[in-house]
Amino acid sequence: MTLANSIELFTNAGVQWLFRYVHVVVGIAWIGLLYYFNFVQVPAFGEMEAAARNNAVDKLASRALWWFRWAAVATVVSGLALLGVQQNNSEYFKSPAGIAISTSILFALTMFVNVWGIIWRNQKVVISNARNVQAGGEADPAAAGAGRAALLASRQNAIYSIPMLALMVGTGHFAYTKGVVLTGGERGAYWALTGVIWILFELNALGVFGKGPGKTRVIYDTHRNAIITGCVYLVAQLAIFKYLLG
Ligand code: HEM
Repeated sequence: MTLANSIELFTNAGVQWLFRYVHVVVGIAWIGLLYYFNFVQVPAFGEMEAAARNNAVDKLASRALWWFRWAAVATVVSGLALLGVQQNNSEYFKSPAGIAISTSILFALTMFVNVWGIIWRNQKVVISNARNVQAGGEADPAAAGAGRAALLASRQNAIYSIPMLALMVGTGHFAYTKGVVLTGGERGAYWALTGVIWILFELNALGVFGKGPGKTRVIYDTHRNAIITGCVYLVAQLAIFKYLLG
């Protein structure tokens, strides 16, 4: 296929190219803002005076959160559209590439649910409290707990993003042997181990093992701990991928 063909929009290859391009642009916006919140905003807010922080929550964080949650929607929609136009057959999801994309979609969808179901739901409480206090009203006693719940989910999303992106990009770029169809046993072992680690992380982020500082929440204590955990998770997930899938 020539370059001209691959960007010819009225062909399947052209539509795939367009969806892939849009997907990467909005994906950058989503994950870029996720890293901004985790690595820049949360540490900076921790050092700010309450009045300055309330003003920043009102004027800055609320805007960043708008782009963040709608970029998440655009990423999921464009990703599913790309998957749809790829016309993969059922054997694809039994191949290493199909398993790489399925795993990265599992992580990305979990992150999406965390964005809308946990982070945004709780940040609405934080934002309305900041606006109310700025207007001279009483502080909402629920705001601190809401901020903490959003923080746990946000740091967990930073952790998931590291293996998620490796497998998402690896789908088309790992050096696979072409045409491999994995056995049910190989896939079962892979999904069992991948699923256990994935669900334990998510339950931890939801506060099932406790919400305050301590024990399993150490990985969310600082953005540094979250980055280290994400890198360890990356190595572990790649090892599971490489060794359990032959
Ligand atoms: C539910 C959410 C998502 C779905 C359904 C999805 C789906 C896809 C699909 C089908 C591909 C093509 C894989 C291939 O055959 O090469 C892809 C590639 C990619 N996706 Fe996603 N994705 C999702 C989330 C994300 C997120 C959150 C990011 C963050 C930046 C992202 C970034 C990328 C990148 C960089 C590529 C690689 C493009 C390439 O190598 O050509 N995706 N995604």
